[in-house]
Amino acid sequence: MLKIKTAVLVSGGGTNLQALIDAEKNDLLETAEISLVISNKEGVLALERADKAGIKREVISKKEFPNQMDFEEKLNQILVENQIELIVLAGFMSILSGQFTDRYVGRIINIHPSLIPSFCGKGFYGLKVHEEALKYGVKITGATVHYVNETPDGGQIIMQKAVEILEDDSPKTLQQRVMKEAEHIILPQATEQVARRILKEREEK
Ligand code: GRF
Repeated sequence: MLKIKTAVLVSGGGTNLQALIDAEKNDLLETAEISLVISNKEGVLALERADKAGIKREVISKKEFPNQMDFEEKLNQILVENQIELIVLAGFMSILSGQFTDRYVGRIINIHPSLIPSFCGKGFYGLKVHEEALKYGVKITGATVHYVNETPDGGQIIMQKAVEILEDDSPKTLQQRVMKEAEHIILPQATEQVARRILKEREEK
């Protein structure tokens, strides 16, 4: 069966990448094929996960480029060379410009650890998201997969899953539960859904 070549962009631990790898292994990804992992940091656990799964991986560090445009040019070059049709941001800690995202409309998705539009946008990443959710006192949080455009966390929502906040939750315990109960479940599902849409559009052309 024809598959949609998918690149996963990472910066850290890569548990979401692992969820995608496991989903592919367990035939939960039928249309998306994880064919490339790109990290903007050397030495991160996500790269080890890619190696272990036998997935091609690249490191592109922003520091090596004079500006954002050149960094994104290189990123694009690697994506084109590898015939990538779908980009999954899974803990990728570098904001992409509108110039870049405009090239991939409907083809870049991101996972965010809250129910957008709560606790999202510039500065809301990592533990901060969960700290703010606890501080506000919401009783339900969760995760969102959305399309990526020039506005951080501003693209159309694809999938969400709610997670209950417990009385004794700390930012850390909440982060772990949101990952396990929401992120790792909806990211593979949304990736497959978007890959199917891309394949269908290609067949209709
Ligand atoms: C996740 O919480 C994700 O929602 C956010 O960054 C974190 C990445 O974790 N965008 P991991 O690298 O997938 O373990």
